[in-house]
Amino acid sequence: IEELFHEYKSKQKPVVGVVVEPIQSEGGDYHGSPNFFQRLQKLTNQNGAALLVDEVQTGLGATGKFWAHEYFNLPTSPDIVTFSKKFQTGGYFAKAKFQPKQAYRIFNTWMGEPAKMLVLDAILKTVKEENLIENTRKTGDLFLNGLKNVSKQYPQLILNTRGLGTFCAFDMPNASVRDKFINQMRNAGIQIGACGDVSVRFRPALIFTEKHANIVLNKMVEVAKNF
Ligand SMILES: Cc1ncc(COP(=O)(O)O)c(C=O)c1O
Repeated sequence: IEELFHEYKSKQKPVVGVVVEPIQSEGGDYHGSPNFFQRLQKLTNQNGAALLVDEVQTGLGATGKFWAHEYFNLPTSPDIVTFSKKFQTGGYFAKAKFQPKQAYRIFNTWMGEPAKMLVLDAILKTVKEENLIENTRKTGDLFLNGLKNVSKQYPQLILNTRGLGTFCAFDMPNASVRDKFINQMRNAGIQIGACGDVSVRFRPALIFTEKHANIVLNKMVEVAKNF
């Protein structure tokens, strides 16, 4: 990234900002270390570029913290944080200096829809009252451990288990094996998704508990056994 900053500078095309996901999701659930993100923030600061953290998939508790970037112990907040999906609306937080000077510089048809705000209010209240983030952290620990055990049983098939909260994933030997596995899991009643070239990712709702995790793990073993 440092090299890219130099490259653009030498082309006289200054970098205005860097967009990064706390866990690169569609690309294959790649995790960066807190140190990586701290250095990235330092680098963007030094180069006068904004740091935008995309929490569209990770935001609202999926990783066991409200925001995934809370894991990174950044000295200051990111400049901009985007969110959607679990929030049932799309939006962003930005530091005051990023406030557009003119009204309506950021605009879309659904902007300011009050019904969305009522839904969001109810979601946030429920998440708090039912301790759903704490649930996701605890269930996630159990689930990831379970995935690691399945990986030990089938080390040729289930590789590189990883995750934060229930935001878990693993790799398979190649794309055709992965696609066949996902199909067989669906036929067994478990909806899971693909990401990247060879990864399988889990994105359960915040109400996913130990009971559900065990159902998934048992089905994985069943499918892997007959694979
Ligand atoms: C990580 C991430 N960021 C952003 C988006 C939204 O993209 P767009 O603004 O193009 O709808 C998605 C959509 O799935 C996403 O997964």
